[in-house]
Amino acid sequence: ATPSRLALKGDLLDFTGTPGWAERDSAAVRFQPASWLLIEGGRIVGTQAEEPDESWTKQDHSGRLILPGFIDTHVHCPQLDVIASYGTELLDWLNTYTFPAEQRYADPAVAAAGAARFLDALLAHGTTSAVVFPTVHKVSAEALFEAAATRGMRLIAGKVLMDRHAPPALCDDVAQAERDSIDLIDRFHGRERLAYAVTVRFAPTSTPAQLAMAGALCRADASLYMQTHVAENRSEVEWVRQLFPEARSYLDVYAREGLLHPRAVLAHGIWLDDEDRRVLAASGAQVAFCPSSNLFLGSGLFDWVAARAAGFAVSAASDVGGGTSLSMQRTLADGYKVQALAGQRLSAWAALHAATRGAAEGLGLQQEIGHFGVGTLADVCIWDWAQGPVAEARFQVARELHEKVFAWMTLSDERNLVASYVAGRQRYQR
Ligand code: GUN
Ligand code: ZN
Repeated sequence: ATPSRLALKGDLLDFTGTPGWAERDSAAVRFQPASWLLIEGGRIVGTQAEEPDESWTKQDHSGRLILPGFIDTHVHCPQLDVIASYGTELLDWLNTYTFPAEQRYADPAVAAAGAARFLDALLAHGTTSAVVFPTVHKVSAEALFEAAATRGMRLIAGKVLMDRHAPPALCDDVAQAERDSIDLIDRFHGRERLAYAVTVRFAPTSTPAQLAMAGALCRADASLYMQTHVAENRSEVEWVRQLFPEARSYLDVYAREGLLHPRAVLAHGIWLDDEDRRVLAASGAQVAFCPSSNLFLGSGLFDWVAARAAGFAVSAASDVGGGTSLSMQRTLADGYKVQALAGQRLSAWAALHAATRGAAEGLGLQQEIGHFGVGTLADVCIWDWAQGPVAEARFQVARELHEKVFAWMTLSDERNLVASYVAGRQRYQR
């Protein structure tokens, strides 16, 4: 049974605002060592140094790190089955590995088992909220929503729209896709912690008519999310240029259809130009930076500094199965290396913010998730600072807070996870 008043003790770390790009001392970082996080009725009601009274069920994790649950803003449920597939760039990878794997999700039993396995895996990696691609099959979206509702999770997803340039078994058509989307919106959008995202796979797999339909759905209801891919790979960008000669750029294909808005999440955004960045910033859309995927598929190096300068939001995402781990620490550690290759340095604060409060703000969910503010739902994870002799030795000599947290981000992974709570309820325990 879940206690109505739960108090967790540990080193509490969250953000009260947006840290500066390379700041090591940031006023936006709230670190409360050896403190209690108070949860009542599934919501955070406060933090304090003093031990709470006997009306609280207490769990003492002294010497451990307590963080808001991570938010993965771009990940593919069915692609757990093709994670770590050898030898291809994006377009070959889709045809060789991904499309065959996604075809299996037409089967409701496969979709249900896959959704359960996927969400349990997220929780076992410290991710409590996600923006997720299922497959083109309506049943795969239903399975994902049902499984998230069962676990009480915040989930944003939608049936994938794709009506060309894919195997027939993965293609819908405009009229059926519209009916299926509307039915799913009616049944799941706004139910519990679920929200619907109009889900255009990417420009090459949708006809102009389907893109127009997707835009119409967004225009009809501003509370809907939109998710897609943009400018990930150079061959893909060239293909889009040929398919949509009238568009100024890949991003413009989406912009012209009204798909760029404050609830839009576009994965990758590597091969954008300055005009694209200006358009993105004006639209309020966010880019999901997927460093593990971008390195694994050889897609390119995302320019986060240019994104900051342009002023659009950037969140962090695993993009499994293009990405090679659901771990957000591994994702962020890869993000640091991508920035290093570009001659930049990503602070632990900028990185962790992009997987917590920053992602929540980008999604308009900062009243609900991403930090320990009073009234938010208690999606919380407890982590070991160090696992194993190498990390333990490193922590012996770490002095200042940024050094410690940066080493944690770089050296830790899901093996450090002790427990995950969703709305105050334990959903994973090591
Ligand atoms: N572009 C279109 N579909 C996909 C996908 O499944 N993964 C990635 N990384 N890029 C895509
Ligand atoms: Zn993706």
